[in-house]
Amino acid sequence: MYNVFIMAQKQRDSWGSRLGVIMAVAGSAIGLGNFLRFPAKAAANGGGAFMIPYLVALILLGIPLMWIEWTLGRFGGGFGHGTAPGIFHSIWKKNRFIRYFGVIGIFGPIVIFSYYTFIESWTLGYSFFSISGKLHTLSDQNAMQNFLRGYQGVEHNIFFNDIKWAYAFFTVTFLVNIAVIYHGIKGGIEKLCNIAMPLLFVCGVILMLRVITLGTPDPSKPDWNIANGFGYMWNADFSKLLSAKVWLEAAGQIFFTLSVGIGVILTYASYLKKGDDVALSGLTAASTNELAEVILGGSIIIPAAFIFFGPAQIETIAKSGTFNLGFITMPLILNKLPWAELFAFAWFLLLFLAGITSSVSLAQPAIAFLEDEFDISRRRAVVIFAIVTFILCQPAIFFLKNGVVDELDFWGGTFFLVLFGLIETILFGWVLGMNSAWEEIHHGADMNIPKIYKFIIKYVTPTFLIFILGMWLFQEWLPVILMSSVPSSDKPYVLATRLGLIGFFIILAFLVKVAWRRKEGKNWFL
Ligand code: ALA
Repeated sequence: MYNVFIMAQKQRDSWGSRLGVIMAVAGSAIGLGNFLRFPAKAAANGGGAFMIPYLVALILLGIPLMWIEWTLGRFGGGFGHGTAPGIFHSIWKKNRFIRYFGVIGIFGPIVIFSYYTFIESWTLGYSFFSISGKLHTLSDQNAMQNFLRGYQGVEHNIFFNDIKWAYAFFTVTFLVNIAVIYHGIKGGIEKLCNIAMPLLFVCGVILMLRVITLGTPDPSKPDWNIANGFGYMWNADFSKLLSAKVWLEAAGQIFFTLSVGIGVILTYASYLKKGDDVALSGLTAASTNELAEVILGGSIIIPAAFIFFGPAQIETIAKSGTFNLGFITMPLILNKLPWAELFAFAWFLLLFLAGITSSVSLAQPAIAFLEDEFDISRRRAVVIFAIVTFILCQPAIFFLKNGVVDELDFWGGTFFLVLFGLIETILFGWVLGMNSAWEEIHHGADMNIPKIYKFIIKYVTPTFLIFILGMWLFQEWLPVILMSSVPSSDKPYVLATRLGLIGFFIILAFLVKVAWRRKEGKNWFL
Protein backbone atom coordinates (compact mmCIF):
# COMPACT_ATOMS: atom_id res chain seq x y z
CA MET A 1 0.00 0.00 0.00
CA TYR A 2 2.79 2.37 1.04
CA ASN A 3 4.64 1.67 -2.24
CA VAL A 4 1.58 2.35 -4.29
CA PHE A 5 1.18 5.65 -2.48
CA ILE A 6 4.81 6.60 -3.15
CA MET A 7 4.50 5.64 -6.82
CA ALA A 8 1.41 7.75 -7.21
CA GLN A 9 3.25 10.67 -5.59
CA LYS A 10 6.24 10.21 -7.86
CA GLN A 11 4.32 10.08 -11.07
CA ARG A 12 2.28 13.19 -10.48
CA ASP A 13 3.35 16.65 -11.54
CA SER A 14 3.96 19.30 -8.85
CA TRP A 15 4.22 23.05 -8.34
CA GLY A 16 7.63 24.72 -8.39
CA SER A 17 6.95 27.24 -5.63
CA ARG A 18 4.33 28.45 -3.23
CA LEU A 19 4.05 31.76 -5.02
CA GLY A 20 3.55 29.80 -8.25
CA VAL A 21 0.50 27.94 -6.99
CA ILE A 22 -1.03 31.10 -5.51
CA MET A 23 -0.50 32.91 -8.83
CA ALA A 24 -2.05 30.00 -10.70
CA VAL A 25 -5.16 29.86 -8.48
CA ALA A 26 -5.46 33.66 -8.58
CA GLY A 27 -4.97 33.44 -12.37
CA SER A 28 -7.79 30.95 -12.60
CA ALA A 29 -10.01 33.22 -10.53
CA ILE A 30 -9.14 36.54 -12.16
CA GLY A 31 -10.89 36.47 -15.50
CA LEU A 32 -13.37 38.28 -17.69
CA GLY A 33 -15.72 38.16 -14.69
CA ASN A 34 -13.57 40.64 -12.76
CA PHE A 35 -13.40 43.36 -15.37
CA LEU A 36 -16.76 43.03 -17.14
CA ARG A 37 -19.25 40.98 -15.16
CA PHE A 38 -18.57 42.49 -11.72
CA PRO A 39 -18.85 46.20 -12.62
CA ALA A 40 -21.99 45.54 -14.65
CA LYS A 41 -23.62 43.55 -11.83
CA ALA A 42 -22.66 46.05 -9.13
CA ALA A 43 -23.84 49.09 -11.08
CA ALA A 44 -27.14 47.42 -12.00
CA ASN A 45 -27.87 46.09 -8.50
CA GLY A 46 -27.60 49.00 -6.12
CA GLY A 47 -23.97 50.17 -6.55
CA GLY A 48 -22.35 50.33 -3.11
CA ALA A 49 -25.32 48.49 -1.60
CA PHE A 50 -24.49 45.48 -3.81
CA MET A 51 -21.29 45.16 -1.81
CA ILE A 52 -23.30 44.07 1.24
CA PRO A 53 -24.69 40.81 -0.23
CA TYR A 54 -21.42 40.47 -2.14
CA LEU A 55 -19.34 40.57 1.06
CA VAL A 56 -21.78 38.30 2.87
CA ALA A 57 -21.48 35.77 0.02
CA LEU A 58 -17.68 36.15 0.03
CA ILE A 59 -17.44 35.44 3.76
CA LEU A 60 -20.07 32.69 3.95
CA LEU A 61 -19.60 30.96 0.58
CA GLY A 62 -16.52 32.10 -1.32
CA ILE A 63 -13.82 31.88 1.33
CA PRO A 64 -15.15 28.63 2.90
CA LEU A 65 -15.33 27.00 -0.54
CA MET A 66 -11.80 28.16 -1.34
CA TRP A 67 -10.54 26.47 1.83
CA ILE A 68 -12.65 23.38 1.22
CA GLU A 69 -11.35 22.96 -2.34
CA TRP A 70 -7.72 23.57 -1.45
CA THR A 71 -7.98 21.07 1.41
CA LEU A 72 -9.92 18.39 -0.47
CA GLY A 73 -7.60 18.77 -3.48
CA ARG A 74 -4.44 18.30 -1.40
CA PHE A 75 -6.09 15.38 0.42
CA GLY A 76 -7.01 13.64 -2.87
CA GLY A 77 -3.59 14.33 -4.36
CA GLY A 78 -2.11 12.31 -1.50
CA PHE A 79 -3.98 9.29 -2.89
CA GLY A 80 -2.92 10.06 -6.47
CA HIS A 81 -6.28 11.59 -7.45
CA GLY A 82 -6.47 15.05 -9.02
CA THR A 83 -10.14 15.18 -9.94
CA ALA A 84 -13.43 15.06 -8.10
CA PRO A 85 -14.42 11.40 -8.79
CA GLY A 86 -11.23 10.12 -7.16
CA ILE A 87 -11.10 12.80 -4.47
CA PHE A 88 -14.72 12.21 -3.44
CA HIS A 89 -14.11 8.46 -3.44
CA SER A 90 -11.04 8.91 -1.17
CA ILE A 91 -13.25 10.72 1.34
CA TRP A 92 -16.25 8.42 1.25
CA LYS A 93 -14.91 5.02 0.26
CA LYS A 94 -18.03 3.16 1.36
CA ASN A 95 -20.29 5.03 -1.01
CA ARG A 96 -20.12 3.52 -4.51
CA PHE A 97 -22.01 6.40 -6.09
CA ILE A 98 -20.18 9.42 -4.79
CA ARG A 99 -17.62 9.23 -7.58
CA TYR A 100 -20.40 9.83 -10.10
CA PHE A 101 -21.25 13.12 -8.38
CA GLY A 102 -17.60 13.95 -8.96
CA VAL A 103 -18.17 13.75 -12.72
CA ILE A 104 -19.47 17.33 -12.44
CA GLY A 105 -15.91 18.40 -11.57
CA ILE A 106 -14.67 17.27 -15.01
CA PHE A 107 -17.83 17.98 -16.99
CA GLY A 108 -18.20 21.62 -15.80
CA PRO A 109 -14.68 22.77 -16.69
CA ILE A 110 -14.83 21.15 -20.17
CA VAL A 111 -18.21 22.76 -20.87
CA ILE A 112 -16.95 26.18 -19.80
CA PHE A 113 -13.73 25.66 -21.77
CA SER A 114 -15.78 24.93 -24.91
CA TYR A 115 -17.11 28.50 -25.09
CA TYR A 116 -14.68 30.43 -22.88
CA THR A 117 -11.75 29.93 -25.30
CA PHE A 118 -13.82 31.35 -28.15
CA ILE A 119 -14.65 34.50 -26.16
CA GLU A 120 -11.04 34.70 -24.99
CA SER A 121 -9.97 34.59 -28.64
CA TRP A 122 -12.01 37.74 -29.37
CA THR A 123 -9.77 39.60 -26.92
CA LEU A 124 -6.73 38.43 -28.87
CA GLY A 125 -8.37 39.51 -32.13
CA TYR A 126 -9.33 42.87 -30.66
CA SER A 127 -5.77 43.37 -29.32
CA PHE A 128 -4.64 43.00 -32.90
CA PHE A 129 -7.33 45.35 -34.26
CA SER A 130 -6.40 47.91 -31.58
CA ILE A 131 -2.72 48.00 -32.33
CA SER A 132 -3.29 47.94 -36.09
CA GLY A 133 -5.48 51.06 -35.73
CA LYS A 134 -8.62 49.42 -37.13
CA LEU A 135 -10.72 49.94 -33.99
CA HIS A 136 -9.72 53.59 -33.92
CA THR A 137 -11.51 54.15 -37.24
CA LEU A 138 -14.87 53.13 -35.73
CA SER A 139 -16.30 56.32 -34.35
CA ASP A 140 -19.79 55.53 -33.17
CA GLN A 141 -21.78 52.92 -31.32
CA ASN A 142 -23.35 51.58 -34.51
CA ALA A 143 -20.04 51.00 -36.26
CA MET A 144 -18.56 49.36 -33.17
CA GLN A 145 -21.65 47.14 -32.79
CA ASN A 146 -21.57 46.08 -36.45
CA PHE A 147 -17.87 45.37 -36.25
CA LEU A 148 -18.43 43.05 -33.29
CA ARG A 149 -21.40 41.28 -34.88
CA GLY A 150 -19.52 40.83 -38.14
CA TYR A 151 -16.44 39.53 -36.33
CA GLN A 152 -18.50 37.04 -34.31
CA GLY A 153 -20.11 35.78 -37.50
CA VAL A 154 -23.55 36.79 -36.24
CA GLU A 155 -24.10 38.78 -39.45
CA HIS A 156 -22.30 39.51 -42.72
CA ASN A 157 -21.56 43.20 -43.18
CA ILE A 158 -19.09 45.71 -44.58
CA PHE A 159 -16.53 44.76 -41.96
CA PHE A 160 -16.58 40.97 -42.27
CA ASN A 161 -18.30 38.71 -44.75
CA ASP A 162 -17.42 35.49 -42.97
CA ILE A 163 -16.08 34.17 -39.70
CA LYS A 164 -12.56 33.47 -40.89
CA TRP A 165 -10.82 36.16 -38.80
CA ALA A 166 -12.58 35.01 -35.67
CA TYR A 167 -11.79 31.40 -36.53
CA ALA A 168 -8.12 32.18 -37.10
CA PHE A 169 -7.80 33.96 -33.74
CA PHE A 170 -9.71 31.14 -32.07
CA THR A 171 -7.31 28.57 -33.52
CA VAL A 172 -4.29 30.52 -32.29
CA THR A 173 -5.83 30.95 -28.81
CA PHE A 174 -6.74 27.28 -28.65
CA LEU A 175 -3.24 26.20 -29.67
CA VAL A 176 -1.61 28.52 -27.13
CA ASN A 177 -3.78 26.94 -24.41
CA ILE A 178 -2.80 23.47 -25.58
CA ALA A 179 0.89 24.40 -25.71
CA VAL A 180 0.75 25.66 -22.11
CA ILE A 181 -0.91 22.55 -20.70
CA TYR A 182 1.35 20.34 -22.81
CA HIS A 183 4.24 21.68 -20.74
CA GLY A 184 2.59 20.61 -17.51
CA ILE A 185 1.92 22.20 -14.15
CA LYS A 186 5.34 23.60 -13.34
CA GLY A 187 6.69 23.99 -16.88
CA GLY A 188 3.49 25.35 -18.44
CA ILE A 189 0.75 26.71 -16.18
CA GLU A 190 3.00 28.03 -13.42
CA LYS A 191 5.37 29.70 -15.89
CA LEU A 192 2.48 31.31 -17.75
CA CYS A 193 0.88 32.66 -14.56
CA ASN A 194 4.18 33.95 -13.19
CA ILE A 195 4.51 36.15 -16.27
CA ALA A 196 0.86 36.86 -17.07
CA MET A 197 -0.35 37.88 -13.61
CA PRO A 198 2.13 40.72 -12.97
CA LEU A 199 1.59 41.92 -16.56
CA LEU A 200 -2.18 41.83 -16.02
CA PHE A 201 -1.85 43.99 -12.90
CA VAL A 202 0.40 46.45 -14.77
CA CYS A 203 -2.21 46.82 -17.55
CA GLY A 204 -5.01 47.12 -14.96
CA VAL A 205 -3.21 49.81 -12.94
CA ILE A 206 -2.35 51.81 -16.09
CA LEU A 207 -6.00 51.77 -17.19
CA MET A 208 -7.25 52.60 -13.71
CA LEU A 209 -4.88 55.58 -13.41
CA ARG A 210 -5.91 56.77 -16.86
CA VAL A 211 -9.59 56.68 -15.85
CA ILE A 212 -8.97 58.37 -12.49
CA THR A 213 -7.11 61.22 -14.18
CA LEU A 214 -9.84 61.86 -16.75
CA GLY A 215 -11.30 64.69 -14.63
CA THR A 216 -14.09 66.45 -16.55
CA PRO A 217 -13.31 65.88 -20.24
CA ASP A 218 -16.24 67.99 -21.51
CA PRO A 219 -16.35 71.39 -19.69
CA SER A 220 -19.88 72.02 -21.04
CA LYS A 221 -21.04 69.07 -18.90
CA PRO A 222 -19.46 69.72 -15.50
CA ASP A 223 -21.48 66.95 -13.83
CA TRP A 224 -20.02 64.29 -16.10
CA ASN A 225 -16.89 64.07 -13.98
CA ILE A 226 -14.84 61.30 -12.42
CA ALA A 227 -16.14 61.89 -8.87
CA ASN A 228 -19.71 61.38 -10.06
CA GLY A 229 -18.54 58.38 -12.12
CA PHE A 230 -17.27 56.70 -8.97
CA GLY A 231 -20.41 57.93 -7.18
CA TYR A 232 -22.56 56.12 -9.75
CA MET A 233 -20.60 52.93 -9.20
CA TRP A 234 -20.48 53.07 -5.40
CA ASN A 235 -23.33 55.21 -4.00
CA ALA A 236 -25.53 52.80 -2.12
CA ASP A 237 -29.16 52.24 -3.02
CA PHE A 238 -30.22 50.17 -0.02
CA SER A 239 -33.76 49.64 -1.31
CA LYS A 240 -32.35 47.07 -3.76
CA LEU A 241 -31.39 44.82 -0.84
CA LEU A 242 -35.03 43.91 -0.36
CA SER A 243 -34.95 41.96 -3.61
CA ALA A 244 -33.94 38.27 -3.38
CA LYS A 245 -32.59 38.53 -6.92
CA VAL A 246 -29.83 40.92 -5.80
CA TRP A 247 -28.69 38.42 -3.16
CA LEU A 248 -28.68 35.59 -5.69
CA GLU A 249 -26.78 37.71 -8.21
CA ALA A 250 -24.17 38.51 -5.58
CA ALA A 251 -23.76 34.84 -4.63
CA GLY A 252 -23.52 33.89 -8.33
CA GLN A 253 -20.82 36.51 -8.87
CA ILE A 254 -18.78 35.16 -5.96
CA PHE A 255 -18.86 31.63 -7.41
CA PHE A 256 -17.99 32.81 -10.89
CA THR A 257 -15.23 35.19 -9.91
CA LEU A 258 -13.45 32.92 -7.44
CA SER A 259 -13.74 29.90 -9.78
CA VAL A 260 -15.16 27.86 -6.90
CA GLY A 261 -17.60 25.01 -7.49
CA ILE A 262 -16.02 24.25 -10.86
CA GLY A 263 -13.46 21.64 -9.90
CA VAL A 264 -10.34 23.47 -11.06
CA ILE A 265 -9.05 24.46 -7.63
CA LEU A 266 -9.42 20.84 -6.48
CA THR A 267 -7.15 19.80 -9.33
CA TYR A 268 -4.60 22.58 -8.79
CA ALA A 269 -4.44 21.81 -5.06
CA SER A 270 -3.94 18.10 -5.75
CA TYR A 271 -0.41 18.93 -6.93
CA LEU A 272 0.50 20.29 -3.49
CA LYS A 273 2.51 18.26 -1.03
CA LYS A 274 0.94 17.01 2.18
CA GLY A 275 2.74 19.56 4.37
CA ASP A 276 2.07 22.55 2.12
CA ASP A 277 -0.06 25.30 3.59
CA VAL A 278 -3.60 25.63 2.24
CA ALA A 279 -5.16 28.02 4.76
CA LEU A 280 -3.10 31.14 4.10
CA SER A 281 -2.50 30.32 0.43
CA GLY A 282 -6.24 29.90 -0.22
CA LEU A 283 -7.00 33.17 1.51
CA THR A 284 -4.21 34.96 -0.38
CA ALA A 285 -5.48 33.72 -3.75
CA ALA A 286 -9.02 34.83 -2.87
CA SER A 287 -7.79 38.24 -1.68
CA THR A 288 -5.75 38.76 -4.84
CA ASN A 289 -8.86 38.07 -6.87
CA GLU A 290 -10.89 40.53 -4.79
CA LEU A 291 -8.22 43.20 -5.22
CA ALA A 292 -8.38 42.77 -8.98
CA GLU A 293 -12.17 42.70 -8.96
CA VAL A 294 -13.21 45.46 -6.58
CA ILE A 295 -10.31 47.88 -6.96
CA LEU A 296 -9.34 47.45 -10.61
CA GLY A 297 -12.61 46.08 -12.01
CA GLY A 298 -14.64 48.68 -10.12
CA SER A 299 -12.51 51.62 -11.22
CA ILE A 300 -12.30 51.22 -14.97
CA ILE A 301 -15.30 50.63 -17.15
CA ILE A 302 -18.29 52.08 -15.27
CA PRO A 303 -16.70 55.34 -14.05
CA ALA A 304 -15.24 55.88 -17.55
CA ALA A 305 -18.57 55.17 -19.24
CA PHE A 306 -20.29 57.63 -16.91
CA ILE A 307 -17.92 60.44 -17.85
CA PHE A 308 -18.39 59.97 -21.58
CA PHE A 309 -22.03 58.89 -21.81
CA GLY A 310 -23.56 60.69 -18.81
CA PRO A 311 -26.10 59.74 -16.17
CA ALA A 312 -28.99 59.19 -18.60
CA GLN A 313 -27.26 56.54 -20.72
CA ILE A 314 -25.18 54.79 -18.09
CA GLU A 315 -28.07 52.68 -16.81
CA THR A 316 -28.65 51.22 -20.28
CA ILE A 317 -24.91 50.71 -20.75
CA ALA A 318 -24.51 48.94 -17.40
CA LYS A 319 -27.35 46.61 -18.30
CA SER A 320 -26.24 46.03 -21.88
CA GLY A 321 -24.32 42.90 -20.93
CA THR A 322 -20.77 41.81 -20.51
CA PHE A 323 -19.82 41.62 -24.18
CA ASN A 324 -21.20 45.02 -25.11
CA LEU A 325 -19.39 46.64 -22.19
CA GLY A 326 -16.06 45.10 -23.08
CA PHE A 327 -16.12 45.11 -26.86
CA ILE A 328 -18.27 48.16 -27.70
CA THR A 329 -18.43 50.65 -24.81
CA MET A 330 -14.81 50.44 -23.69
CA PRO A 331 -13.18 50.81 -27.13
CA LEU A 332 -15.55 53.71 -27.86
CA ILE A 333 -14.43 55.45 -24.67
CA LEU A 334 -10.75 54.79 -25.34
CA ASN A 335 -11.14 56.10 -28.89
CA LYS A 336 -11.86 59.52 -27.43
CA LEU A 337 -8.48 59.68 -25.68
CA PRO A 338 -5.02 60.48 -26.98
CA TRP A 339 -2.98 57.30 -27.57
CA ALA A 340 -6.24 55.44 -28.12
CA GLU A 341 -4.59 52.52 -29.90
CA LEU A 342 -2.22 51.86 -27.01
CA PHE A 343 -4.88 52.08 -24.31
CA ALA A 344 -7.22 49.85 -26.29
CA PHE A 345 -4.38 47.38 -26.72
CA ALA A 346 -3.71 47.46 -22.94
CA TRP A 347 -7.43 46.82 -22.32
CA PHE A 348 -7.70 43.80 -24.62
CA LEU A 349 -4.33 42.45 -23.52
CA LEU A 350 -5.59 42.68 -19.93
CA LEU A 351 -8.68 40.69 -20.89
CA PHE A 352 -6.64 38.16 -22.86
CA LEU A 353 -4.26 37.55 -19.94
CA ALA A 354 -7.21 37.29 -17.56
CA GLY A 355 -8.84 34.83 -19.96
CA ILE A 356 -5.91 32.54 -20.71
CA THR A 357 -4.89 32.09 -17.07
CA SER A 358 -8.49 30.97 -16.44
CA SER A 359 -8.88 28.74 -19.50
CA VAL A 360 -5.74 26.68 -18.87
CA SER A 361 -7.13 25.92 -15.42
CA LEU A 362 -10.36 24.70 -17.03
CA ALA A 363 -8.38 22.27 -19.15
CA GLN A 364 -6.40 20.73 -16.31
CA PRO A 365 -9.09 18.58 -14.63
CA ALA A 366 -9.68 16.56 -17.80
CA ILE A 367 -5.93 16.08 -18.29
CA ALA A 368 -5.50 15.05 -14.66
CA PHE A 369 -8.40 12.60 -14.98
CA LEU A 370 -6.80 10.83 -17.94
CA GLU A 371 -3.37 10.81 -16.31
CA ASP A 372 -4.43 9.73 -12.82
CA GLU A 373 -7.29 7.35 -13.52
CA PHE A 374 -6.16 5.81 -16.83
CA ASP A 375 -2.36 6.09 -16.39
CA ILE A 376 -2.09 7.89 -19.72
CA SER A 377 1.02 10.06 -20.14
CA ARG A 378 0.51 13.81 -19.95
CA ARG A 379 1.43 14.38 -23.57
CA ARG A 380 -0.99 11.77 -24.82
CA ALA A 381 -3.69 13.08 -22.48
CA VAL A 382 -3.20 16.59 -23.88
CA VAL A 383 -3.52 15.30 -27.46
CA ILE A 384 -6.77 13.49 -26.61
CA PHE A 385 -8.06 16.58 -24.81
CA ALA A 386 -7.13 18.82 -27.75
CA ILE A 387 -8.96 16.65 -30.29
CA VAL A 388 -12.11 16.26 -28.18
CA THR A 389 -12.39 19.89 -27.07
CA PHE A 390 -11.59 21.28 -30.53
CA ILE A 391 -14.70 19.46 -31.72
CA LEU A 392 -16.71 20.55 -28.67
CA CYS A 393 -15.81 24.21 -29.27
CA GLN A 394 -17.43 24.25 -32.73
CA PRO A 395 -21.09 24.71 -31.67
CA ALA A 396 -20.17 27.80 -29.61
CA ILE A 397 -18.38 29.28 -32.63
CA PHE A 398 -20.94 28.55 -35.32
CA PHE A 399 -24.17 28.80 -33.34
CA LEU A 400 -23.40 31.72 -31.04
CA LYS A 401 -26.33 33.66 -32.44
CA ASN A 402 -28.69 30.76 -31.71
CA GLY A 403 -28.24 30.87 -27.95
CA VAL A 404 -25.81 27.94 -27.68
CA VAL A 405 -23.26 29.84 -25.57
CA ASP A 406 -25.94 31.03 -23.14
CA GLU A 407 -27.14 27.46 -22.74
CA LEU A 408 -23.61 26.12 -22.13
CA ASP A 409 -22.95 28.96 -19.69
CA PHE A 410 -26.14 28.33 -17.76
CA TRP A 411 -25.45 24.64 -17.08
CA GLY A 412 -21.64 24.55 -17.07
CA GLY A 413 -20.99 28.00 -15.65
CA THR A 414 -23.89 28.61 -13.29
CA PHE A 415 -26.20 25.79 -12.20
CA PHE A 416 -23.68 23.00 -11.66
CA LEU A 417 -21.31 25.30 -9.76
CA VAL A 418 -23.78 25.72 -6.93
CA LEU A 419 -24.70 22.03 -6.90
CA PHE A 420 -21.06 20.97 -6.92
CA GLY A 421 -20.24 23.49 -4.15
CA LEU A 422 -22.99 21.97 -2.04
CA ILE A 423 -21.71 18.41 -2.55
CA GLU A 424 -18.17 19.48 -1.62
CA THR A 425 -19.37 21.26 1.52
CA ILE A 426 -21.38 18.26 2.70
CA LEU A 427 -18.47 15.90 2.05
CA PHE A 428 -16.11 18.17 3.92
CA GLY A 429 -18.23 19.18 6.90
CA TRP A 430 -20.39 16.10 7.34
CA VAL A 431 -18.75 13.05 5.76
CA LEU A 432 -15.12 13.81 6.59
CA GLY A 433 -16.53 15.47 9.71
CA MET A 434 -15.70 18.93 10.98
CA ASN A 435 -13.08 17.77 13.48
CA SER A 436 -11.05 15.78 10.94
CA ALA A 437 -11.65 18.46 8.33
CA TRP A 438 -10.34 21.11 10.71
CA GLU A 439 -7.23 19.06 11.40
CA GLU A 440 -6.72 18.48 7.67
CA ILE A 441 -7.07 22.17 6.80
CA HIS A 442 -4.57 23.14 9.51
CA HIS A 443 -1.99 20.56 8.53
CA GLY A 444 1.09 22.65 7.64
CA ALA A 445 -1.03 25.81 7.86
CA ASP A 446 0.62 29.20 8.21
CA MET A 447 -2.43 30.72 9.88
CA ASN A 448 -5.16 29.71 12.27
CA ILE A 449 -8.57 29.96 10.72
CA PRO A 450 -11.02 31.67 13.11
CA LYS A 451 -12.99 29.00 14.99
CA ILE A 452 -16.30 30.49 13.90
CA TYR A 453 -15.61 28.93 10.49
CA LYS A 454 -16.14 25.49 11.98
CA PHE A 455 -19.74 26.50 12.51
CA ILE A 456 -20.03 28.41 9.23
CA ILE A 457 -18.71 25.54 7.09
CA LYS A 458 -20.81 22.92 8.80
CA TYR A 459 -24.13 24.77 8.97
CA VAL A 460 -24.20 28.18 7.32
CA THR A 461 -22.52 27.47 3.97
CA PRO A 462 -24.65 24.41 3.12
CA THR A 463 -27.85 26.14 4.28
CA PHE A 464 -27.04 29.16 2.11
CA LEU A 465 -26.36 26.87 -0.88
CA ILE A 466 -29.55 24.89 -0.33
CA PHE A 467 -31.42 28.19 -0.14
CA ILE A 468 -29.94 29.34 -3.47
CA LEU A 469 -30.80 26.04 -5.17
CA GLY A 470 -34.25 26.06 -3.59
CA MET A 471 -34.93 29.60 -4.79
CA TRP A 472 -33.81 28.62 -8.25
CA LEU A 473 -36.03 25.53 -8.30
CA PHE A 474 -38.95 27.56 -7.00
CA GLN A 475 -38.59 30.46 -9.43
CA GLU A 476 -36.94 29.17 -12.53
CA TRP A 477 -36.83 25.45 -13.12
CA LEU A 478 -40.01 25.16 -15.13
CA PRO A 479 -39.33 28.11 -17.48
CA VAL A 480 -35.76 26.82 -17.96
CA ILE A 481 -36.88 23.26 -18.74
CA LEU A 482 -39.57 24.53 -21.09
CA MET A 483 -37.13 27.05 -22.64
CA SER A 484 -39.77 29.76 -22.14
CA SER A 485 -37.40 32.67 -22.71
CA VAL A 486 -35.77 31.11 -25.80
CA PRO A 487 -37.03 32.46 -29.16
CA SER A 488 -38.76 29.65 -31.06
CA SER A 489 -36.25 29.80 -33.93
CA ASP A 490 -33.46 29.01 -31.44
CA LYS A 491 -35.24 26.20 -29.63
CA PRO A 492 -33.87 23.36 -31.82
CA TYR A 493 -30.30 24.60 -31.22
CA VAL A 494 -30.79 24.96 -27.49
CA LEU A 495 -32.45 21.56 -27.27
CA ALA A 496 -29.64 19.97 -29.28
CA THR A 497 -27.09 21.58 -26.93
CA ARG A 498 -28.97 20.28 -23.92
CA LEU A 499 -29.14 16.74 -25.31
CA GLY A 500 -25.47 16.96 -26.23
CA LEU A 501 -24.63 17.96 -22.65
CA ILE A 502 -26.63 15.05 -21.25
CA GLY A 503 -24.88 12.66 -23.66
CA PHE A 504 -21.48 14.06 -22.73
CA PHE A 505 -22.19 13.70 -19.02
CA ILE A 506 -23.18 10.06 -19.54
CA ILE A 507 -19.97 9.38 -21.47
CA LEU A 508 -17.88 10.87 -18.66
CA ALA A 509 -19.80 8.87 -16.04
CA PHE A 510 -19.14 5.74 -18.10
CA LEU A 511 -15.42 6.58 -18.23
CA VAL A 512 -15.42 6.87 -14.44
CA LYS A 513 -17.02 3.44 -14.23
CA VAL A 514 -14.43 1.98 -16.63
CA ALA A 515 -11.56 3.60 -14.72
CA TRP A 516 -12.66 2.07 -11.42
CA ARG A 517 -13.26 -1.35 -12.92
CA ARG A 518 -9.78 -1.26 -14.40
CA LYS A 519 -8.29 -0.39 -11.03
CA GLU A 520 -10.21 -3.21 -9.40
CA GLY A 521 -8.92 -5.56 -12.10
CA LYS A 522 -12.45 -6.30 -13.32
CA ASN A 523 -13.89 -6.58 -16.80
CA TRP A 524 -14.24 -3.04 -18.15
CA PHE A 525 -17.76 -3.13 -19.44
CA LEU A 526 -19.73 -5.19 -16.96
N1 ALA B 1 -13.16 33.14 -12.49
C1 ALA B 1 -13.14 33.38 -13.89
C2 ALA B 1 -13.65 34.73 -14.23
O1 ALA B 1 -13.89 35.54 -13.34
C3 ALA B 1 -13.90 32.31 -14.62
O2 ALA B 1 -13.80 35.00 -15.39
